[in-house]
Amino acid sequence: MNRIAVFTSGGDAPGMNACVRAVVRTALLHNVEVYGIVRAYSGMISGDFIPLDFNSVSNIIQRGGTILKSARCEEFRTSEGRAKAAAQLKKFNIDGVVAIGGDGTFTGAQIFTKEHGIPFIGCPGTIDNDLFGTDNIIGYDSALNTVIEAVDKIRDTADAHDRLFFVEVMGRDAGFIALRSGIAVGADAVLIPETETFVDSLIERLKIGKAHHKTSSIIIVAEGDDGGGAYEVARKVKEQYNYYETKVTVLGHIQRGGSPSASDRVLASILGKAAVEALLKGKKNEMADVINRKVVFTSFTKAIKHHQQINKDLLNLAESLA
Ligand code: F6P
Repeated sequence: MNRIAVFTSGGDAPGMNACVRAVVRTALLHNVEVYGIVRAYSGMISGDFIPLDFNSVSNIIQRGGTILKSARCEEFRTSEGRAKAAAQLKKFNIDGVVAIGGDGTFTGAQIFTKEHGIPFIGCPGTIDNDLFGTDNIIGYDSALNTVIEAVDKIRDTADAHDRLFFVEVMGRDAGFIALRSGIAVGADAVLIPETETFVDSLIERLKIGKAHHKTSSIIIVAEGDDGGGAYEVARKVKEQYNYYETKVTVLGHIQRGGSPSASDRVLASILGKAAVEALLKGKKNEMADVINRKVVFTSFTKAIKHHQQINKDLLNLAESLA
């Protein structure tokens, strides 16, 4: 393998830059050239490739976002789009690719490798944490810290005004951010897509809180919750129970930005290095990940969406401590 490419895809996640840095520097150590593909599969189709050297990745380990930009690409879902991408990879003499992203990225990579034979290795990067086969995903820890910082601030004002806050967090159709941040902020309830939301039980919970002289409350709502998101749940609760003045905060894209946490920087560095070494060993269609502090590899098929289960013990913990 003489030349590889790296790209970042899907929703950006803090730590993606640290991963790109690790990929580039590991490849150079093995005398392998590296190209960055700008804007993921869109750039692969249009041939937006840039050579990356040691200095191209200096001073980026601490930066959020991604120097390679990211994009969601409809054209890559078509066989014509993928054929154009394969032609570009061949034109640039790319022998293997490191894809940093989430389930959509790996789904595309898997189909592409089957059709065109060019090997891909994935590094899991998405704040949603919804890939199977890894203890943690690049960006998740940083996003959690952003949520915690925001909710701690909301708690101050909720307490000052005796208010009930519904805070909506990201995660698409997965509740990992909601559940873990809910525990970390001591939320009174956590509403996630993986469990059915009953407004009546939520109201009962709020009444119990009131009986215990709680003057304010925080409910974390995952954006994909079946209750319809924070505004909708707040509306339904207010219809039946208006003891508290109710407010809604949707945290939105601040969860994706900002400097990566220490954990994300280290994880990204480990996985970037592992991905390059895996390509050199001839692996393909697998995601590099860390389980119990050891680097392991999981096939894209297993890693992609809906195999990762919510931890029931954590759910019970959130409820029992609320
Ligand atoms: O997958 C990451 C994520 O931030 C999800 O949590 C969210 O649902 C989605 O991306 C938002 O995507 P976009 O930035 O394209 O609106």
